[in-house]
Amino acid sequence: MKLLVCGGAGFIGSNFVRARLRDHGDEVTVLDKLTYAGRRENLDGLDVRLVVGGIEDADAVAEAVNGAEAIVNFAAETHVDRSIAEPDAFVTTHALGTYVLLEAARARGLRHVQVSTDEVYGSIEAGSFTEDSPLAPSSPYSATKAGADLLVASYHHTYGLESLICRGSNNYGPYQYPEKLIPLMVLNALHGDQLPVYGDGMQVRNWIFVEDFARGIGTVLESGAPGEVYNVGGPDEAPNLEVVQRIIASTGASEDLVEYVTDRPGHDRRYSLGSEKVGGLGWEAQVRFAEGLERTVAWYRDNAAWWEPIRSGDYRAYYERQYGRALG
Ligand code: NAD
Ligand code: TYD
Repeated sequence: MKLLVCGGAGFIGSNFVRARLRDHGDEVTVLDKLTYAGRRENLDGLDVRLVVGGIEDADAVAEAVNGAEAIVNFAAETHVDRSIAEPDAFVTTHALGTYVLLEAARARGLRHVQVSTDEVYGSIEAGSFTEDSPLAPSSPYSATKAGADLLVASYHHTYGLESLICRGSNNYGPYQYPEKLIPLMVLNALHGDQLPVYGDGMQVRNWIFVEDFARGIGTVLESGAPGEVYNVGGPDEAPNLEVVQRIIASTGASEDLVEYVTDRPGHDRRYSLGSEKVGGLGWEAQVRFAEGLERTVAWYRDNAAWWEPIRSGDYRAYYERQYGRALG
């Protein structure tokens, strides 16, 4: 298939591109703005055309979309804490950017898969969200992602665009920027830095290994019904403190590194997705959390060349602003 993958230089997008080239022989163009989270290195060794530009830039989109049969849109600002501190880019990329892409898809009659998140449903005490659960986002990140989802759905309803939405739970694995819980804790543990746990650490997340999510998006791209939403959730859930304890055990770090810090404002307590609908298309998760976490810790341990430029660059200033202390 000839694909335009927007945001393909980021964490999940680059894992998706790698899997599509390897398993399906797709022809891929990546359109990516290369923000702090988008890195050329993530595409090293992959035979793709890279167009550097924003999805909100109609000229860049026109250049990139040329020849594509379908668009898969990963491009987003993705960190909740950054959305609380500086929401501007979240509104531009998710609202305006998604609109520009949808117009490009509409003008050319292309299939459009929007990559979205369980966070659009908000927090759930018990049980799991289905695709029919109401949207109740809490943060500027999830609210703007929900807005993008509604716009995507409207293009199917109004114009008959072949658009689909694929909502994933919390991803982890190789190439994830170390602002997110798991890579941040792994790198801090390997360096003997503090492990900052928000609030009581009992917030629960539904963890999915990135390769499983990438395969789920491929399933929706190939077999999903236009206009439909598909949830793709991981096989296991865990409170944050348990995740941190597992990372301590796996890296051999000291328990004393755990530091309870001020909670995130408006922090969602628990996310959980039911994946029965995408299961009906033949998808199921293959990697349990214990195995995926070991693979992830091993990848970070073995790939210092990937994270060293991040950890010694602008990330240090971000970390100091966010956590009120310098990295060691
Ligand atoms: P990421 O932050 O690692 O990557 C985002 C990519 O988008 C980067 O390459 C960045 O340069 C690019 N980008 C940002 N703004 C852009 C713009 N205006 N135009 C073009 N490119 C732009 O994020 P990720 O974790 O890989 O997430 C990818 C998608 O999956 C997002 O849509 C996110 O909402 C969704 N998602 C993420 C998770 C998760 O746990 N990480 C879970 C479910 C869904
Ligand atoms: P995160 O990886 O930011 O994903 P999301 O907020 O999208 O679920 O955070 C996962 C959980 O870990 C969330 O409950 C917040 C918590 N957390 C910490 O306790 N400490 C940290 O330093 C970070 C980044 C997150």
